[in-house]
Order: sequence, then structure tokens, then C-alpha cells
Amino acid sequence: MGKVVVIGSYVADLMSRAPHLPKPGETVLGGPFQMGPGGKGGNQAAAAARSGSNVTFVTKVGNDLFGKNAIEHFEKEQFNTQFVKVADDEATGAALIAVDNHGENHIVIAPGACGTMTSEDVLEADGAIKDGDIVVLQLEISLSAVKTAMERAVIHNVPVLLNPAPYQEFPRELLRHVTYATPNEMEASELTGSDVTDEESAQKAANTLHELGVKIVIITLGRKGVFLSEGVSSGKIVPAFQVDAVDTTGAGDAFNGGFAHAISSGQSLEDAVQFGQAAAALSVMKAGTALSMPQADEIKTFLSGHVEGIQ
Ligand code: RIB
Ligand code: NA
Repeated sequence: MGKVVVIGSYVADLMSRAPHLPKPGETVLGGPFQMGPGGKGGNQAAAAARSGSNVTFVTKVGNDLFGKNAIEHFEKEQFNTQFVKVADDEATGAALIAVDNHGENHIVIAPGACGTMTSEDVLEADGAIKDGDIVVLQLEISLSAVKTAMERAVIHNVPVLLNPAPYQEFPRELLRHVTYATPNEMEASELTGSDVTDEESAQKAANTLHELGVKIVIITLGRKGVFLSEGVSSGKIVPAFQVDAVDTTGAGDAFNGGFAHAISSGQSLEDAVQFGQAAAALSVMKAGTALSMPQADEIKTFLSGHVEGIQ
């Protein structure tokens, strides 16, 4: 079983559907209100745990109702919660999510307690990092916490997966610590300063990332699949599984968590990408985020029905 260490955000997702996403100044009459566990860190942790990994989740929540819900959820998902901190002076974060009829979304995230995670909080989990098979990071917590996590992983020779989402400015030299970078098209454009719109521009962005030290670049392209590049000018598209999406929120997290599980438990790069894509396809067929992540047996069944040669 792979040991996946996720260091990142937890927030409560507050979601409603609407016939279309509101324009500036517009109020739209929505459907029922739904609440559930979220945050890119929490979602990726749930995806990896349900895929079959042993997950340690390093995060911070508030001493409030959302924080209590969070801890119950972590226990249900069987995360190692030794490094989950409860802040007395910060509220648990929340994300305000609107989803339209096509499953597309708008999100504003208020990180709250997880936004106050420090380098020291990460250092407390150094033993878990050392013992891990992969460290999974996003950009919803402070850059200093992310930087420390990368540095410790590198010292312990543990591969680093960086999902640079949501994009925030950060020193490019940090990219030399990154084994797997998984930006979407928009994040890849922001990271490299050149627009990613097709295969050629994806390769150009991947080349820039390789030159900055990223070993493996995986640009997620939504319904089109992913652009997988293992070195300068060596990339290719791995097509996505086509399914009917009801809610794409957290699809990237399903991919990252599924991929982290698969690669850290010894699957080949291409198999791990497909495993992540299967997790993402299954997650978009259900509403919600962390709770829509598929279980290992669902992913296995899905892959055996969609990929030749897999039983
Ligand atoms: O990636 C989706 C997630 O982003 C949501 O669950 C929301 O919490 C935001 O952080
Ligand atoms: Na979903």
C-alpha cells in the first residue's frame, strides 16, 4: 500500500446549482443548498485514500462546527490525523461554489484556519514525510508551508507532486524540487507566461517547466485528457474517458489523488495517469467534491470496462 502524505487545505464546501453562473452584479435563483468536505488538499487526500493508499493529511481546521465535521470525515476516510491541528483563534475555511447545468463551476475560497499553517506545522510532520512514498501539495496554503514541505521531501528523497492550484505567484526555483507538476491549462499558462491552448503550446509550456527542473509535467486539459511530458519535447496527449458530467468540481483533485496513489504504489507512469483519469471520470458523474471520490473497486471496474488488457 502506498503511503501518501498530503499537506494542504481543508475547507467546507458550500454549494448550490444554478441554471447559469451569475455575471457580475447578477443574482441567480439556485437549486438546493449542499454542504460537504472540500478543499483541494482534503479532496486529494480522500481520492488517494479511497483509491487504496495509506494517507497522512497535514492541515489545520478551526475549533467550530465545520472543524468538528472535518475531523469526523477524516476519521471515516481513515486518514492518519496525527498532524491535523485545531486552531482556537481561526475559523475553519469555506468555499462558496456555484455549479451550472453543464457541470461547470465558479469558486471563491476563504482558507481560514488552513491558511494559517506555518513551516513549523509542516516540520512537526517531518517523520511522516520521511516515511512517505509521495508528498502531495497544492497552493491553497501559505507558500512558506509549501516550500518547507518540498525541502523536507527532497532531503528525505521522497517524490513531490505539486498541483499548482489555485495559481499564486511563487519563486520559480522551487520548481526544481518538483517530481510531478500537474497544472491545468490556465495554471500552466500562468506558470510559464505562455498561453496553453493546444498540444503544441502545451509542449512549449512543459519544456519551460522541465528547464526549471520539473521532472514530469502533466497538464490537465479537462475533457481532452492530459498532456504528459517526461522531458523536453517528448510529450503526448493521453485522452480522457468520456462520461456525462454532472459536477466537475474537484475533478482535478480526483486525478491528483488517484495518480498519487497509483504512482506511489508502483504503477508505471502511463498506468498511473489512466488510474487518475478513471478516478476523475467517476468523480464528475456524482455531485460534490471529497464525497464524490470513487472507491478502489469502482476504479478497477471502470478501467477494466474502458481499457483493453486490464482485467
Ligand atoms: O478543487 C475543488 C476544490 O477547490 C473545492 O472542493 C473547493 O473547496 C476549492 O478549494
Ligand atoms: Na463530483
